[in-house]
Amino acid sequence: MAGGDCGRMFRLQIPPGRRQNLAAEWNAAVVVAHNRPVLDGPQGRIALRSKGIVVPKVMITKIIPVAFCALLVAAPGQGADAVVLRIKADQVAAHVSPMLYGLMTEEINFSYDGGLYAEMVRNRSFKDDPKEPVHWQLVQEQGGTGTMSLDPGQPFNDAIPTSLKLAVTQAGGRQRVGIANEGFWGIPVKPNTRYRASFYAKAEGFAGPLRIAIVSNDGATVHASAQAPRVTGSWKKYEAILATGQAKPSAENRLVISAGSAGTVWFSMVSLFPPTWNNRPNGNRKDIMQILADMKPAFLRFPGGNYVEGRTIATRFDWKKTIGDISERPGHMNDAWRYWSSDGMGLLEFLEWCEDLHMEPVLAVYAGYSLAGERVAPGADLEPFVEDAIDEIEYATGGAGTTWGARRAKDGHPAPFKLEYVEVGNEDQFDRQTGSYEGRFAQFFDAIKAKYPKLNVVTTARVSGRNSDVLDEHYYRRSEDEMASHAHDYDTRDRAGQKVFVGEWATRVGAPTPNMSGALGDAAWMTGLERNSDLVIMESYAPLFVNVNKGGMQWPTDLIGFDALGSYGSPAYYAQQMFSLHHGDVVLPVTAQGVPTREWQPPAPGGRRGAPGTPTPPPQPAPPPQQVPTLFFDATRDSQAGTIYLKLVNRAGTPQPVRVEISGLSAVEAQGQAITLSASAPDDTNSITEPTKIVPMTTNVEGLGANFTRTFPPYSITVLQMKGK
Ligand code: AHR
Repeated sequence: MAGGDCGRMFRLQIPPGRRQNLAAEWNAAVVVAHNRPVLDGPQGRIALRSKGIVVPKVMITKIIPVAFCALLVAAPGQGADAVVLRIKADQVAAHVSPMLYGLMTEEINFSYDGGLYAEMVRNRSFKDDPKEPVHWQLVQEQGGTGTMSLDPGQPFNDAIPTSLKLAVTQAGGRQRVGIANEGFWGIPVKPNTRYRASFYAKAEGFAGPLRIAIVSNDGATVHASAQAPRVTGSWKKYEAILATGQAKPSAENRLVISAGSAGTVWFSMVSLFPPTWNNRPNGNRKDIMQILADMKPAFLRFPGGNYVEGRTIATRFDWKKTIGDISERPGHMNDAWRYWSSDGMGLLEFLEWCEDLHMEPVLAVYAGYSLAGERVAPGADLEPFVEDAIDEIEYATGGAGTTWGARRAKDGHPAPFKLEYVEVGNEDQFDRQTGSYEGRFAQFFDAIKAKYPKLNVVTTARVSGRNSDVLDEHYYRRSEDEMASHAHDYDTRDRAGQKVFVGEWATRVGAPTPNMSGALGDAAWMTGLERNSDLVIMESYAPLFVNVNKGGMQWPTDLIGFDALGSYGSPAYYAQQMFSLHHGDVVLPVTAQGVPTREWQPPAPGGRRGAPGTPTPPPQPAPPPQQVPTLFFDATRDSQAGTIYLKLVNRAGTPQPVRVEISGLSAVEAQGQAITLSASAPDDTNSITEPTKIVPMTTNVEGLGANFTRTFPPYSITVLQMKGK
C-alpha cells in the first residue's frame, strides 16, 4: 500500500484470521496500530523495513501519510545515545495557530474572591451566610461593650437585603467597639502602600465618628488608619485612603471599623483594595496579573467551567446580575465549588481583564444545563436563556446605540470589545438526556449566527445537527506517563472535521500546584498540540489558580498558587510560558530514530467529573502495559526571522544525547539560545515558600549547526533557538 500527500488518510483493515505473516508497504510518516502511532513496535510486533513493514501480530487500522507527524522508532531499553532527530527546515507541515496558547478561568479554588480580584474584605455585603456574619468579629477594646448581628430589618438595597448592625452600649475614651474583618486568610499589609477603603453606613443615636484601620491580629500595631465623618441616619458611602509606612509585609491583620461612643450603626458593602493592575477601581491584584502577562496568553476562556453552569439553574453565572456598581450586585452561591461569589469579578471585569492583557475573550454562555441535572427544554422554555446570551454578546460588542452596548458604556466602558469566539455551555456530554444538547445547541447556534454570522461558535460536546466551528475537548490525566501516552493523539486525527479547542487539560500530579513530573507530562502533550496546531487552534490548562491556604483548594493541581501576600508559578506554569513565548509560525516536519521508551501500566478506565456529587462509574479491568517514549519533541520556524525553535522534553532521569540534523537550509548558525526548565527529581516543585525553585534558565549556546549533538539534562524541558539561513 502506498501513502500519498500530507494530510490524506488511508485505512488498512486486515480481516481476522489473516493477521499472521502479513506485510504492508508504504511511504507514510505514521502508522497507527491499535489506535496508537507505531512504526517499530516492541517485541517485534511490527518491524520496519526500508519502505515497508511486516505485521505478524497487530491489526493496522490506519496508515496516515501526514508529513508533520513525528516518526517514532521506539525501542525499549535502547542505548541513550542513539536518538537522531531530522528536521526539514524548508518544509511546512502546518501553520501554528496564533491563538494557540491561552488561559481558562472560573471561580474555583478562590480564584477571584480571595485571589485575582483584589478585594481584601471577605463577606463584604454580609451574604456569605444568611445566619451569621462569618469572617467578621466583634471588637471590644479596653472595657467597651456592644453586639454585632445580621439585621434583615435594615436592608441596604434590593440586591443586599441584610446589613450588619453594631450596637455599642459602652464606649468612650480608650474604650472602642467595632467590627473586624479577617480577610481571605488575612489582610495583607505591605510597606508604603495606599489602600482604598470604603463602606456604607447609617446610624441611630450615634454621635461619634468611626475609625477605619488595618490592625495586626494581636491589636498591637495599627498599620494605617483614617477617620470617617459623622454618620447620618440614612445610607451613605464613606471612603478613605489607608496608607502604610515602613510596615513589614504580613498577612496577620484585620480591617477594623470602630466607634468611640455609644449608639447603633449599620454597615453594608465594606471594601478594601490595594493598588490594582492599571489602577482599575474594581481591579485585579498586580502580582498575579504580572504572572499572567509573562505568559503572553492569546485568549481567556471564561467564566467556566462548572462555574458557568452552577449546580442549579438558579445558581448559574447569571451575567446580568454581575454588572453595574458592586454595591448593586447580589452575588450568588457558587455551589459548583461550594463558596459564596461576590460577583465583583463580573462580566465587564472579565472583559477588562482581557483588555489589560491583550487577550481575546472566549465567552462561555449558559446553555440551559446545570450540574445537578437541571436542564431547560429546547424551544420556548430555552428562549429567555438564548436571549440572555445574545444580550451578553451585545454587552461585549455592541455600539453605544444598542441597548446592551449603551449599558456597557454606562458601566464605564464605551468602546466595544473584540469578540470572535462564543462557547455554548460547558462539558455538555455530561447531560445524559438523549438529544438534549443537540436541541439546546442548535437553538443557541441559530440565534447567534443569525445576529452575529462572523462569530465562531464552540460546542462543548459533539453534535450532528449543526456545523459548529470549534469543538472544546477536555483531558485531565492522572500521571505524567498517561499524559505523555496521549501526546500523539492528534497526529492521526482526521483533518476534515471541525477545529479543536483543548479548553481544559492538565497532568494532575502535585497539589496544590503541579510538580516537575506534571510539567514534563504537560510539555510532552504540548509538543503534540503545537505540532498539530493546524487542527488544535487553541489550548488552555485548567484550573488556572489556587489559593494555597487550608480550605482554599477544591481541585488539586492548579497552574498558579497564591495566598494573601504572594503568588508563584508552578513548574507547569513555566512549561506553558516556554511554549507560549517561544515558537514560530510554521511547524516543521521532524522524524526521529532511536527514541527511548519506558513501560507504563495504564490505570483501569474510569469516569471523571469535576462537580461534587457526581457518581463514580464502577471500576473496570486495567488494560495491558504500554511503552511510552521518554523523549518528546517538535519544531517550528519563524518564517520571517528564520529562527528555528526545537522543543525537546527529556522525561528520563538520565542525560539524553540527541543528534540533530537540519536539512533544507544553506546554513544554521553555531550560536543560539537554550531555554531550559529542569529539576533534580520529578516531584520537585515550587511553592508559596519556595516560589522560584524551578524556573527556566536562558543560556547562550555554541556548537549548533545543520548537524550537531547536544545532551539534554534529566527531567528537562528545553527550547533550542537556532538561526537558520
Ligand atoms: O477545571 C475544573 C473542572 O473540570 C471544570 O470546572 C469543569 O469544566 C471540568 O469538569
